[in-house]
Amino acid sequence: MAVVEVEHLTKRYGDLTAVDDVSFSLEPGEVFALLGPNGAGKTTTVEILEGARPRTSGSVRVLGHDPARRPRELRERTGVVLQEAGFEEEFTVAELVELHGRMYPRRVATAAVVEQVGLTDKAHARVRTLSGGQRRRLDLALGLVGAPELLFLDEPTTGFDPGARRRAWDLVEGLRRDGTTVLLTTHYLDEAEHLADRVAVVVRGRLVALGTPAELGARRQDAVVTFRLPETVDLSALPALDGVLVPDGLDWHLTTARPTAALHTLTGWAAGRELEIPALTVRRPSLEDVYLGLVAGAGETGPDDPADDGRPTRRRGPRASGAGSATPGRGGRLASRRS
Ligand SMILES: Nc1ncnc2c1ncn2[C@@H]1O[C@H](COP(=O)(O)OP(=O)(O)O)[C@@H](O)[C@H]1O
Ligand SMILES: [Mg+2]
Repeated sequence: MAVVEVEHLTKRYGDLTAVDDVSFSLEPGEVFALLGPNGAGKTTTVEILEGARPRTSGSVRVLGHDPARRPRELRERTGVVLQEAGFEEEFTVAELVELHGRMYPRRVATAAVVEQVGLTDKAHARVRTLSGGQRRRLDLALGLVGAPELLFLDEPTTGFDPGARRRAWDLVEGLRRDGTTVLLTTHYLDEAEHLADRVAVVVRGRLVALGTPAELGARRQDAVVTFRLPETVDLSALPALDGVLVPDGLDWHLTTARPTAALHTLTGWAAGRELEIPALTVRRPSLEDVYLGLVAGAGETGPDDPADDGRPTRRRGPRASGAGSATPGRGGRLASRRS
């Protein structure tokens, strides 16, 4: 049974259709990426799956439940890492993780989670003293403390330096090895390519492509063979090549659907004359080329400033009720953090 099933999901905010007839599903143990530029509807989709936002239409099943009914079981079996979270600033890292963990029947020990996200040396530091990257790791800890079967990660590495990013990637890979199903959103193509088993490309609310990174990269078969002519040779001496040949300074670019045959013709001709072809390369379109093509084709200029998506910051404090005097809430400042 699919862990997440989304069919014809649509979400409108007034006149704006933020999510437009989107369908996809997640298999158990899969890392699935929603990839798209800012404003594509990724966070809205994830929030609907978390049960944090009502949908306009379509059907959604998460671990067999309708998240709109906010079933307790769903909350206990899923972990959520918000794109932007506010924290209770006066708690220490360990306190916040501890309190948050009380919501979950299968919780992981606080020290273990803090270690997992690399915050052991900050365990007793107050949240307000953490750097942006450390806060993001605290977000991760809160998402993981319940030993979730399904983890939602909304832009988990936005604003990270390369080292922190690599550690976050390692963490996600570790979760995959442990069998956790992960739905992550990102506007970084390399992140989707590196982490995800399958990628759904979303642009302006619409799902424009879905497949493994390799499948998406192979959507365009054309390759470009680039070469220069040996100095002694005139273009008219070349054999006929299958494709479109255009000049670029001293280079020639042959765009061809049959690069193997074209190369065979070209190199066979050169070898027969004992000619060396300078600057000979073959380039396949990368997933990035394909992605940028999809984004442009859907009428976007490309990913814009990730810091400005006009969304209000959501509060991230322990939602535990019945934690007695330890229940936070009063006096905690709402962090307004833009990652
Ligand atoms: N609460 C809201 N009210 C009105 N519009 C919203 C709200 N949240 C998001 N939007 C709009 O919906 C679109 C999708 O936003 P979002 O889901 O945050 O995209 P992403 O996470 O892909 O950047 C954007 O145009 C955004 O401005
Ligand atoms: Mg978002």
